[in-house]
Amino acid sequence: MEYLEHQITECKKTKVDELIERMKSIDFHLHQETADKLQLNLQERLVSIQNIWNAVKLKIGDPKTALDVGAGFAYGTVFLDMNGIKTVGIKNVHAKNTQAFKLFRKLGVTINKVNKVDFSKSPAIFETDFNEMQGNEVADLITMFYLSGELVMNPKTLQVCEKLLKKDGRCMFSTEANRSTIKK
Ligand SMILES: C[S@@+](CC[C@H](N)C(=O)[O-])C[C@H]1O[C@@H](n2cnc3c(N)ncnc32)[C@H](O)[C@@H]1O
Repeated sequence: MEYLEHQITECKKTKVDELIERMKSIDFHLHQETADKLQLNLQERLVSIQNIWNAVKLKIGDPKTALDVGAGFAYGTVFLDMNGIKTVGIKNVHAKNTQAFKLFRKLGVTINKVNKVDFSKSPAIFETDFNEMQGNEVADLITMFYLSGELVMNPKTLQVCEKLLKKDGRCMFSTEANRSTIKK
């Protein structure tokens, strides 16, 4: 008699996979004058953020808190929260924040509005200019997914990151700006 061993591979969907599925089923149009048109495509941007995260997460350690800077429509903020990291998104454009709250409400995710960094309200959005933020050693991680040219070019950006990061904290930047702009 021959016994065949079957290996059962459990393919468990993550919260983010489920969110991507829900995005396919809703009709929601984002409006924004922007050079980064791809951020208007919900699923594509979230899948891209998931890919970036999968590529870097082992290098990032085990952060408990994050600031998601230039949060856009809050994809990264919600993504990090769903991965167990208490996250406050930092975003300076009111019209985008308003749409992000509506979009995620429709998807069954509540984003809280905060007027200071309060990780207990994660996922949250703090509407402010990152480079004007005050505070020392606030977060374990600072992410900038598809960070804006505006932030890359401003020499203050890295100084503020340094100030807001806890000792041994990490920054993760991803950008579509070309290499020569980054080098400058
Ligand atoms: C290219 S978008 C990327 C948005 C988002 N991270 C994503 O992956 O979809 C960059 C965002 O950074 C924001 N931003 C630029 N300068 C900023 C600043 N000084 N403080 C806060 N947000 C800023 C812009 O308004 C823009 O929404």
